[in-house]
Amino acid sequence: MKPIERTFSVADQIPGYIYGHDCVPTSSVSTETLGGLKESAGFTAEDERYLRLVGTVLIGQTSQIVDLWRRQIIASIPNLARHSLTLEGEPIPEYLAKSSLRFEKWIFDTCFREYDQSWLDYQREIAPRHTGAKKNEVDGVRSTAFVPYRDALAFVAVMNETIKPFLANKGNSRDEVEAMHRAWCKSLQIQMALWAEPYIQASRAITEW
Ligand code: HEM
Repeated sequence: MKPIERTFSVADQIPGYIYGHDCVPTSSVSTETLGGLKESAGFTAEDERYLRLVGTVLIGQTSQIVDLWRRQIIASIPNLARHSLTLEGEPIPEYLAKSSLRFEKWIFDTCFREYDQSWLDYQREIAPRHTGAKKNEVDGVRSTAFVPYRDALAFVAVMNETIKPFLANKGNSRDEVEAMHRAWCKSLQIQMALWAEPYIQASRAITEW
């Protein structure tokens, strides 16, 4: 593991996590297009700095956060819970556990990674892991074929609201917590804009919206 990786590690091994590997397909979105998207979302160099602070503050809290989102909130909403269950509605504990580890790692990727071509490429990997193109494949499970885009997009509101108390857990000032929260929300907005592209591909748009 490279030293920079160790500082935001969530486990020694994360099954199915392939950030930066050669097998990750190149995104058709360029860093130039991403630059435009950052501008559209009002994402500045200051937000980048605050995201690093978010990452530092969230060290040691990612497992609690992902548990809250997935094992508590999503699990209590049948229309969302079904995406981690078999088609008959049975739990698949290993699926939830492995994908939750990747979800935890994504928090640190959001905060600490350069938003460069590798980051764009990985966005183009994790979004299809929610669509009919790739959901279930990585963990070899039989579950719903896709998470509708509208639900993923709407769930961002819950993620944004519920992350806030965690940002305040390490004694930062109110202003700092607000600035961290703004940076986090803008990043998620940008990521969901990027996710729209694989979902909007003509063959999926009608069913998977
Ligand atoms: C309705 C809301 C959502 C549901 C029900 C949901 C469900 C899931 C499921 C079932 C997986 C495993 C995918 C697979 O089969 O490989 C997964 C993975 C993941 N989800 Fe979501 N998701 C939702 C929204 C989001 C949002 C809004 C984000 C972030 C912006 C997100 C980030 C991730 C990440 C990072 C992973 C791990 C990706 C990977 O497989 O490597 N999810 N999610």
